[in-house]
Parts: sequence; C-alpha cells; structure tokens
Amino acid sequence: MKAVAPAASRILFGNWRGSYTVPAGGLYPHQWSWDSAFIAIGLRHLSPRRAQQELDTILSAQWDDGRLPQIVFHSGRDDGYSPGVSFWNSSSIPGSPPVQTSGLIQPPNHAMAVLMVHESDPHESGRRRFLERAYPRLVSWHRYLRERRGTGSGLARIVHPWESGMDNSPYWDACLRGMTQTYGGEIPRPDLLHAEAEHRPSNGEYGKYLYLAARYRDHDCDDADPDFPFQFEDPAFNALWARSELSLAAIAELIGADPEPHRAEARRIASSLEELWSSALGCYVARDASTGELQPYRTVSGLTPLLLPDLPHTDELLDLLRGPHFRLGEVAMVPSHDLTAPTFDSARYWRGPSWFNTAWLIAEALYERGCTAEAEQLSRNMDDGALDHDFPEYLDPYSSAPRGTRRFSWTAALALDLSQKIGASR
Ligand code: SER
Repeated sequence: MKAVAPAASRILFGNWRGSYTVPAGGLYPHQWSWDSAFIAIGLRHLSPRRAQQELDTILSAQWDDGRLPQIVFHSGRDDGYSPGVSFWNSSSIPGSPPVQTSGLIQPPNHAMAVLMVHESDPHESGRRRFLERAYPRLVSWHRYLRERRGTGSGLARIVHPWESGMDNSPYWDACLRGMTQTYGGEIPRPDLLHAEAEHRPSNGEYGKYLYLAARYRDHDCDDADPDFPFQFEDPAFNALWARSELSLAAIAELIGADPEPHRAEARRIASSLEELWSSALGCYVARDASTGELQPYRTVSGLTPLLLPDLPHTDELLDLLRGPHFRLGEVAMVPSHDLTAPTFDSARYWRGPSWFNTAWLIAEALYERGCTAEAEQLSRNMDDGALDHDFPEYLDPYSSAPRGTRRFSWTAALALDLSQKIGASR
C-alpha cells in the first residue's frame, strides 16, 4: 500500500486554524460539527493533543440547551460561505454561545471520537483531564437529542437535510417536492466557485434548504414550531447516537461515573431503530416523522446500523452491502445510494458518489464484525482513492474520478486512520 501518512499530514496541518480544522479552505472555511469528530479520529495519530483541542473547541460552542451546532463561525465573518454569520446572527438567539454559530445540528459522532482520541494517548488525556471536561458536555448534548428532538418512537428527529450530513439524499425528495414554500430572497451559491454545479445540490434544493433554515432561525431555533415542514428520523443519525451512547458508557467507566444509564439508553435507541427497518428493501430507511412514511430508498445511511452490536439484521445488511446495490469490493468504496436505483447519480453529492466518512464507518463495522479481509480491502481502496486524487471530497463509484472539492480534511484524517490500522494488523 502507498504511504498515505505524509500527504494526509500536510492536508491536516494546512487546514488547521490554531484550535480547529476547516473541512476545506475554500468550500467550507469554518468548523463543522461531525467533520471535527471525524478529523480528530485521524489527527490523534499525528498529535493526540491537537485532536483533543479539536474536540474541546467544538464542545465549547455548545448552546445552553446542550445542542452542538452544525457550524461554528470562529472568525465572526461569512468568509465566502453561505448561509453564514450574516444569515444566522446567532448572538441574537437566546441560549446561543458567545461565538457565532449555525442553529442546526449534525449527527452525534462526538462521544465516539472523544473515546478514540483518549485511547490514542490515555496518559496525555488523563494529564489534561480531557474526559472529565468532555463527559458533562456530551451528556448534555445527548440529553438535548432525547428531550428536544425525541419523537414518540424514541428516536431523534432532524429538522433540516443539513442535519443528516447527507444534504440531498433521495430520502428528502418527497417532502421537499411537497413543500410549497421556498426561500424568497436571493440564493447565494458561493459553493459553485469551489465545486462543479453537477456535483452539488441543485438551486431548487437550495431554495428549500434556505427556507427551512430561515424558518427555524426565526423561531429562535427553539424546536417548538408547530407543523414544521421537515421532520425525519434518519438511520445514520440515530445509529451514531446509539453508538455514541456506548462510547459514553466506556467514558463514564474511565472517570468513575455510572455507565449503566448509557448502556440502557443505547439499547433503547437501538430497539427503536427497528421501526426504520424496511423488510421490502432489506435495509434501514428514513421515516418522515410527520406522516410516518418510510422512504423507499437504499442509501449508505441505512447500512450504518452495522456499527451497533447485537443488530437483528446484520446478515441481511452484509448481504446488501456485498450484492448488486452497493457492490462492496467491486466499485470504489461504498456508494452513498443504491447503484441500481433510478435516482442514482454517480456525480452528485449524496445521490450516488462514495464518501470517505461513510466508507470509514462501514470499514470500522466490518473490522468489528471480524470481516477483516473485506475491511482491509475497503481501507486500501480508500487510501488509494485519497492519495491518487489529492484527497477529494467524494468519488465516482464506477470510475473513481474525484468529485467535489480537494484537500478535504476528513478524507485525509480517515485515510490516515485506516492506514494505521492496516499497519498495526500486520
Ligand atoms: N453540507 C452543507 C454545505 O454544503 C453544510 O453542512 O454547505
């Protein structure tokens, strides 16, 4: 395998901004929530201390209600990103932190990252009381999900496609199509200066995104807007929540707190996740929390429950991953959407391309389930895809052609993490 570490380190050091890492200098010039957690998982191999700082920084932007914001605008300026500080103006919203942020959230992978960063250097972590600092913040983040985002079924709901991290997934099509409202103002697209229009969500989608974000903001981000038009239970969001509860249990044990409530919570979320199982598709799917309708699409989000132990549908999910819909080992990494679906698009953001963060989650699950040969093949595939194309944001699953932006931080971080793992297993 090619040595990914020197090039990955250059990307990570280049995108470092003193206390956090930007996902990509041009397209994403601020700190993103779930990006930071993925980035810390790679950074721990270069500097455990810096990885801790990355997580400390995102955790310190927590709102009074416990939410960890989707984006933190440390510079206090838009810096060419939209919607930025001038759109959110979060300092005027009650309960927001002193730093400017978005009011939305992203998937809760943070406790998982905190534990992994701790394990990379327990001595340094202990000396700096990293876990003691992170634990109460993570507990309050998870409490926000349960109390403010909880649905009747026991899962957490997202209120914006951006909150899934998979903005234009086909899961949201029916809801967005059915929405009569769209953003009234100008729709700035500075993203198109840094990536091709065919790789990004469309203007039609952006009109709906901005409408939803503005409505949520104008309701003081209080999660109490009756009839909010976008409310979904997403499989990856909830699987990561359950997985992070298990990480919280391990963290609690390490600092002498009671792990049992976290284990019980993980079991509770995992059992609720079964409501998202589609036996017709053999996959977990998103559910519209307003209508109760399961969205009939196989996506990589529906494969991520593989990260949970004792999953009742493990064999079916592994078959799905290996079969014609995702073709593990035959196409680049893991496509974000079913290769056989009419909605599949090999180039456009979350409608087909293979992403490095979701491939990493699947590789992690394969390692944990003892599918070592497949996990290693996927890891090598990821490292080659990263190194051969200057660490792209995502890849065409068929041609491996790079898509989106380049020198992307989580691509570097997660390729580095897997290269260390392959090295260690030799
Ligand atoms: N993914 C969004 C964007 O493209 C934000 O989280 O800007």
